[in-house]
Amino acid sequence: MVGQGAALDACGRLRSGLIVPAILETTQVTKQYPQSEQQILSGVDLSIDPGETVAIMGPSGCGKSTLLNIVGLLDQATTGSVSLEGESCAGWSEEQRAATRCRKIGFVFQRHHLLPHLSVLENVLIPTVPARSGEGARERAQELLAQVRLDHRLAYRPAQLSGGECQRVAVVRALINQPALLLADEPTGSLDHDSSAAIGDLLVSLNREMGLTLVVVTHAADLAERMGRVLTLRDGTLHA
Ligand SMILES: Nc1ncnc2c1ncn2[C@@H]1O[C@H](COP(=O)(O)OP(=O)(O)OP(=O)(O)O)[C@@H](O)[C@H]1O
Ligand SMILES: [Mg+2]
Repeated sequence: MVGQGAALDACGRLRSGLIVPAILETTQVTKQYPQSEQQILSGVDLSIDPGETVAIMGPSGCGKSTLLNIVGLLDQATTGSVSLEGESCAGWSEEQRAATRCRKIGFVFQRHHLLPHLSVLENVLIPTVPARSGEGARERAQELLAQVRLDHRLAYRPAQLSGGECQRVAVVRALINQPALLLADEPTGSLDHDSSAAIGDLLVSLNREMGLTLVVVTHAADLAERMGRVLTLRDGTLHA
């Protein structure tokens, strides 16, 4: 957490003066899925300041997606707490959780979850409907799609795209509402080197220019290296 005497300016840089809460904090989060003996998370403590960039690594099956789903308010911890911007999410209704996801959090799913009957542009614009953030969204979508080299695919359907192209659309969709926090589950998992670098460039530039906080689950060492902090999930807990 950013302590007393430190705060963020519009670009997410620290300046002195105020107390700013962690944008995301977990305390002793555990997770055991129903009908499973195994405890996947066994006490995760995590505190991420606004404007930070964090990579979470760890072997397949160790619980990275499980953790990201919990902090992204898509799933609930078995025990422990999650706070966003200093506010505990305990006891929130599904409506509150959905509204917060919509306003504050961009989420890139490991399996991109694009809607098959919609075009690239329409998929990217989906989150702008509940957020009522439609003004300027088409232009923003086109700009972001150009940055990941997909501006020539606006009218394509997901079935007409490669796996990597779908992944890039999913990243743009997560960014369209200009969230404060981006949670990305292997955003470059199915990308070649150049496309992967383009996603990395986009995320890092949004962090530098807009103060976007990044939490990126990845197996890619080159993407992890671009984050300010790298954590490893092992035996159900996070290690620096
Ligand atoms: N809904 C579920 N019900 C029961 N077990 C689950 C469920 N979802 C995940 N698991 C189990 O929890 C463990 C962690 O899964 P998770 O998807 O979080 O791993 P991961 O670290 O993201 O792996 P990968 O790097 O392969 O994506 C796995 O053993 C998985 O089988
Ligand atoms: Mg995963």
